[in-house]
Parts: sequence; structure tokens; C-alpha cells
Amino acid sequence: MHVWVVDLASAPSTPGVLSPSELARAARFRFAQDRRRFIASHATLRQILAAYTGVLPASLEFITLPHGKPALVSGGLQFNLSHSGDLALVALAAGCEVGVDIERLRAQVEMEAIARRFFSPSETEALLAYPEPERAPAFFRCWTRKEAYVKALGGGLTISLSSFVVSLEPARAKLLSGVEAPWTLHSIDVHPAYSAALAVACDPAEISLRRWPPR
Ligand SMILES: CC(C)(COP(=O)(O)OP(=O)(O)OC[C@H]1O[C@@H](n2cnc3c(N)ncnc32)[C@H](O)[C@@H]1OP(=O)(O)O)[C@@H](O)C(=O)NCCC(=O)NCCS
Repeated sequence: MHVWVVDLASAPSTPGVLSPSELARAARFRFAQDRRRFIASHATLRQILAAYTGVLPASLEFITLPHGKPALVSGGLQFNLSHSGDLALVALAAGCEVGVDIERLRAQVEMEAIARRFFSPSETEALLAYPEPERAPAFFRCWTRKEAYVKALGGGLTISLSSFVVSLEPARAKLLSGVEAPWTLHSIDVHPAYSAALAVACDPAEISLRRWPPR
């Protein structure tokens, strides 16, 4: 189980490796910074997948599953991408479905309203028990853990986020109820200003965190 942490500010933004549809998506961004981050994250995803598969970055072919999850046409290697601010995560697993989510911590979010709308009652109660300075990190832990799981399933936000329960504690990411084995959930310690989580349909012995571009 490998998770690549991508610094989008220093990753090369090389549109040459992207497909026509990726280039068309890039062209739709209004702000240059968002366009650059999109190109850097998709170019880096291709570079990383190329290193594992031996296929040239520009020659990799993707299919899009019914709710938007991309997969390699060749199969064999599961991956998932998430990006927020200047960081992206690329999670890779062989023979085991995977979902990843990263969010930059932000204080100006309507945490209570979002929790009441999307979280389960027990998650909302656990969130509101945190004192003010600890509430935003707890909110984003809950959010990224839930989103990693629905991204692993591939349904994304078409899956009800209140249909399953995750832990909010910093130490241990856990799927508490509403989820069948063999799913496991893991916190990814990436950067103090970000929260990130990984969900996998197996119990990996080790999760190896790697940095891109490699130093
Ligand atoms: C997938 C989803 C959870 C993404 O959340 P996000 O926090 O905004 O974005 P992230 O950065 O974590 O992830 C985005 C990446 O996940 C991948 N992705 C897209 N859809 C996905 C899905 N259903 N499951 C898993 N991964 C998905 C893509 O690689 C995407 O990268 P890209 O947008 O640069 O191509 C959200 O957009 C969603 O639920 N989409 C599906 C909604 C849907 O099915 N709508 C149907 C139309 S009504």
C-alpha cells in the first residue's frame, strides 16, 4: 500500500502528457492557479502510475466508472487521487480497492450545519463535544475519513454520508458501524495544515508514505 504526497507547487505542470479530455477540463478553470494545480496533479498521477506499470505516462488509458471514479483500463493496480490547496495524494494498491481524501484545514466552515446535514447523529455529537480550537481538526478528520470511504466504494457523494459511522479521535481512524469487513480506515499524517485519510478493502500490514517529486 503506497501513498504518494505530491507538492503541487513544485511538481512540474507538464500538459504534454495529458489526454485531450484532461486538457479540455484544464482549459475550463477560470483561475490560472487552479488550472496549474489540476495539470500538475494529473501529470503527476500519470508519472506515478507509469513508474508502477512500465507504460509511458502519455500512453496510460483510463476508464471512468459510473459515478466518476477513474480506473486503469489495463486493471491490476487500483489507485485514487485527491487534491486540496497545494497538496495532492495518490494512493495505490494491488488487488484491493482504495479511496483517499485530503482537505486543507479551514476555520471558516459552517461545521455544525454541515455535520447536522451530512454526518450521523453520533458523529455530530462527538464533534460538538470538542472545544473550539480542536473542533476544526476534528471536523476535517471526520470529513476526510468519510469521503475516503465513499471514494473507495466509487459512489462518491451519491452514497449517504450518514449511513455509516467513523471515529473522530486523532489517534485511530476507525469505521465504527454501517460498514462490512474487509474495509479498514487509516489517517495519513501529511502536513499540520491538512487532514487526510485512506480507506482500503483490506488490512494492509504497512502503509508507505512517499514524497513527489522525489528528492
Ligand atoms: C468524488 C468526490 C467525492 C470528489 O470529492 P472532492 O473532495 O471534491 O475531490 P478530491 O480531490 O478528493 O477527489 C477528486 C478526484 O477523485 C477521483 N474521483 C472522481 N469521482 C470519484 C468517485 N466517484 N469515486 C472515487 N474517486 C473519484 C478523480 O480522480 C478526481 O480527480 P479530478 O477531479 O481531478 O479528476 C465528489 O466529487 C463526488 O461525489 N462525485 C460524484 C458525484 C456524482 O456521482 N454525481 C453524479 C451527477 S448527479
